[in-house]
Amino acid sequence: MMIDNDIEKTIVGREEIVEIIDRLGKELTRDYKDKYPILVGILKGCIPFMSDLMKHLDFHLEIGYMDVSSYFGGLTGAVDVKIEMDLNMPVKGRHVLIAEDIVDSGRTLHAVIKLLEHRGAKSVKVVTLLDKPEGRKIDYVPAYIGVTIPKVFVVGYGLDYEGRYRNLPYVGLLKPEIYEND
Ligand code: IMP
Ligand code: MG
Repeated sequence: MMIDNDIEKTIVGREEIVEIIDRLGKELTRDYKDKYPILVGILKGCIPFMSDLMKHLDFHLEIGYMDVSSYFGGLTGAVDVKIEMDLNMPVKGRHVLIAEDIVDSGRTLHAVIKLLEHRGAKSVKVVTLLDKPEGRKIDYVPAYIGVTIPKVFVVGYGLDYEGRYRNLPYVGLLKPEIYEND
């Protein structure tokens, strides 16, 4: 692939992604088979992961999407989470399973979980392809984790650098010159 040329090193390859999704599909099918959950994807990074994962979920579910962004800084350094696009269905009394590409600081997810709980969801859990626990700013452990990675910036399989590389079919490290050229 052409966009391959910008990648220094593979972090999670295609075969490993297939294995991860197979395992997560089994775990989730075991835990959610009688719960009729709403699978909520956090845009835009969730797209490849959620689309592959849902085909391994052998139970009834509905899907929905949210687009959320976090703003850091200001004088207080406080974090503000903005709902760019809200879920278009009620969650009251429903089990919600959030699909994420990566959990880093945990702040975005924390805010989304609190919001959905506030709206009366029966449970809110997270399935993430990647977990970067060293980046955590709040105490949070996702219920379902594909693979834990070190505190490095990765792209591909949903993850972007300045909007690009989401369509790379695996997760990798960018070559340093890609950042340096900006
Ligand atoms: P946080 O857990 O609130 O810090 O937010 C995680 C979000 O930051 C993810 O949904 C990604 O959009 C983005 N993010 C974190 N780490 C990376 C990375 O290594 N590559 C690309 N995006 C990342
Ligand atoms: Mg994201």
